[in-house]
Amino acid sequence: MKFNHKSVMLTECIEGLNIKPDGIYIDGTMGGAGHSKEIANRISNKGLLIGIDRDEEAICVAKERLKEFKNVRFIHDNHDNIKNILQDLQIQSVDGILLDLGVSSYQLDEKNRGFSYMGNGILDMRMDKTQTLTAKDVINTYKEEELAKIIYEYGEEKFSRQIARKIVEYRGKKKIETTQELVDIIEEVLPKRKGEGHPAKRTFQAIRIEVNNEIKPLYNTIIQSIDSLKSGGRLCVLTFHSLEDRAVKNAFVDSCRKMYMSSRITILYLWSGFKRKNNNKKTNITNRKRDK
Ligand SMILES: C[S@@+](CC[C@H](N)C(=O)[O-])C[C@H]1O[C@@H](n2cnc3c(N)ncnc32)[C@H](O)[C@@H]1O
Repeated sequence: MKFNHKSVMLTECIEGLNIKPDGIYIDGTMGGAGHSKEIANRISNKGLLIGIDRDEEAICVAKERLKEFKNVRFIHDNHDNIKNILQDLQIQSVDGILLDLGVSSYQLDEKNRGFSYMGNGILDMRMDKTQTLTAKDVINTYKEEELAKIIYEYGEEKFSRQIARKIVEYRGKKKIETTQELVDIIEEVLPKRKGEGHPAKRTFQAIRIEVNNEIKPLYNTIIQSIDSLKSGGRLCVLTFHSLEDRAVKNAFVDSCRKMYMSSRITILYLWSGFKRKNNNKKTNITNRKRDK
């Protein structure tokens, strides 16, 4: 299958990063390398782009798409480990970091990755296939209350309790193996209605967030990212839903406070909204400048 992913807010991100030709940049969510290619195009031979993705398939695609550039390092890892990754590369600080959070269209569209409620596949949803926990484990082993909580908190699904109850009822008879089985169970609680989004959308988002532990470490990742910037460095974050957005904004606000209190550093905080399909994608850009 072709790796299709349309890069979001490309111009805004590149402008926000304010790329210096000899600078060091991190793309912490390299995916299909759409943003990375624009960064790589703007840096000189003295500059460096560090591309991180937890999905090995994305790293393979990015390597192929960026093969003409010599100054790119590809790292198969989780950007939540950003400090350790930089330590391993013996780099103290960088000029810019980009985080385009969430899944790629490729991951969603590829049936055998088990992310999608649109086609049938084994319930998997792992961005990093080397991790052990899969969506099948979550659906078949979590207690009813845990499932309801996840579906409510990560999916903002009003019918979380009813869906969790149906899942537990169904799996009492047979293990739930496929995305289609899960869709059918959800549709028993929430039948499809014309003009409304797919009834399984919110539950699938919730299970995916749980499998990939997308929210809990995010606050610290943003704090670590801000700490890893050089003076004048830029952090640009694209968020996809309110849970990510909240964690990112809290980290920005707390860093702002800490920096105001500890030194004469000013922070410029920009926020802009953007609609991608039916979802909101937002940019947070922070810029650290020392008072002269
Ligand atoms: C929205 S896509 C990025 C698309 C990319 N900006 C482009 O233009 O092609 C998100 C990517 O980030 C990766 N990802 C998500 N969470 C991650 C994490 N915690 N650490 C590393 N990569 C992550 C996913 O595997 C996916 O490939």
